[in-house]
Amino acid sequence: IKVFVPRDSSALSLGANQIAEFIQEEAAKRNIEIQLVRNGSRGMFWLEPLVEVEAAAGRIAYGPVEPSDVASLFDSDFLHGGDHALKLGITDQLPWLKNQERLTFARVGITDPVSLDDYIAHDGYKGLKNALNLAPVDIVAQVTDSGLRGRGGAAFPTGIKWKTVLDCKVDQKYIVCNADEGDSGTYSDRMIMEDDPFVLIEGMTIAAVAVGASQGYIYLRSEYPHAEVALNEAIRNAYEAGYLGRNLLGSGRHFDLEVRRAAGAYVCGEETALLESLEGKRGLVRFKPPLPAIEGLFGKPTVVNNVISFATVPMIMDKGSVFYRDYGMGRSRGTLPIQLAGNIKQGGLVEKAFGITLRELLYDYGGGSATGKPIRAVQVGGPLGAFLPESQFDTPLDYEKFAEIWAVLGHGGIVAFDDTVDMAKMARYAFEFCAIESCGKCTPCRIGSTRGVEVIDKIIAGKDHAKNIALVRDLSDTMLHGSLCALGGMTPYPVLSAINHFPEDFGLQQKEHA
Ligand code: NAI
Ligand code: SF4
Repeated sequence: IKVFVPRDSSALSLGANQIAEFIQEEAAKRNIEIQLVRNGSRGMFWLEPLVEVEAAAGRIAYGPVEPSDVASLFDSDFLHGGDHALKLGITDQLPWLKNQERLTFARVGITDPVSLDDYIAHDGYKGLKNALNLAPVDIVAQVTDSGLRGRGGAAFPTGIKWKTVLDCKVDQKYIVCNADEGDSGTYSDRMIMEDDPFVLIEGMTIAAVAVGASQGYIYLRSEYPHAEVALNEAIRNAYEAGYLGRNLLGSGRHFDLEVRRAAGAYVCGEETALLESLEGKRGLVRFKPPLPAIEGLFGKPTVVNNVISFATVPMIMDKGSVFYRDYGMGRSRGTLPIQLAGNIKQGGLVEKAFGITLRELLYDYGGGSATGKPIRAVQVGGPLGAFLPESQFDTPLDYEKFAEIWAVLGHGGIVAFDDTVDMAKMARYAFEFCAIESCGKCTPCRIGSTRGVEVIDKIIAGKDHAKNIALVRDLSDTMLHGSLCALGGMTPYPVLSAINHFPEDFGLQQKEHA
């Protein structure tokens, strides 16, 4: 009998290792033979640690399990789907999972993350095998046709980026994965790396074959120790089986891959600061142009993509561009792994086609706020994303629809706040965050952020509202248009959206603000 206990950080932090140990001990004590699989998380964090058992009708879920529940689970014969207070039913039939469209996350929570056999048994490496039979231009064309756009946040078409690198006629090119997932409330990159690392490895390998690169690096957030372990184990297994190295699957193609631990600075998630850091230097942002696609790592053409962008490619190369493109709305094609966090009853990972609304996510999936109070604001797209009020909750998730309301989707993180939130404090925090994380290269960000904190403090202290709000707007304008990168350039999003949508928190009447 197969029993699944997740090894994802979300479950580990809630005692999953001890539960796995207890299950094994209890089974031995009762002379029952079990096969314990350490799978990834299904992404329902409020139910972690979620223990599953294999049954003819599908896996049956029990959760959230505490170590002290293990003996009673055995007493209830949970190994055969027995009734227990923690029994949730067939995992795939739970409403949270049943209504999702898991394409990039198809295997997450299902397979043993570091087992190559399990990966292959669940459609793994089909995409690479197809790619190896294609000319590089045709791989790039398939990725372009799929409509896939950069999932790190900037939404630049992935195929076009690859074409720029392919078109550079030089010997050495690089593939770099931006795994420095720094946005507040985001964890989709982490889940892919911990729970299905082969899909990232395969996606990077396809990119290498497509553009003619022989070396790849995963620039991994230093706060992700479990991802590091899973990635390194998966990389080792891929090398042993010939899926990485000098002769990929006997094709004569060459791709080496290694993990590099990041420097622990938010700005190192900006692609040029990342490249500096990868080269062993301080993470200072570079001027663009030249684009990394033309002069990237060590001055060579480099594909820099986010984890989710790479991890989506194997499925596109397996099922075809039309299959992927059929999901979504407008120019936002395919699906987005959305991460629900903050003051939310049911936090976790929801992969859905673009077009789902915030309200559906917050209430149908999230179940409203954890505190039971009304959700007053959400911040979408990390610490540099705009705050959205309740009146905008019907906005569909789509890059262009969000741009129309002066907001961003970013990396798909949604952080909810109930009606106790003080939006003036949130605006202050946005400036403070920028001041702390600024790389210091340009003046609007380095100086502007600190001045921003001071002015918001005056507003909070009740000094000269109108004049100080005007100052914040002026300063934001300079930062928006004069900053070198998105850190300084986007800090005005949370600041101004807070003022525009919640003027009463800044001591302004609605009409004063208008
Ligand atoms: P950008 O718009 O400057 O560039 C987007 C990407 O397209 C870059 O990789 C750029 O090199 C590439 N590119 C542009 N033209 C190209 C061409 N002709 N050929 C090949 N490549 C080309 O955006 P940037 O500054 O890289 O990223 C900003 C975004 O990052 C923001 O929208 C924000 O949402 C997101 N972000 C994500 C974070 C995370 O933790 N995932 C953290 C902070 C911001
Ligand atoms: Fe550095 Fe800030 Fe300028 Fe970006 S905006 S280059 S983080 S100083």
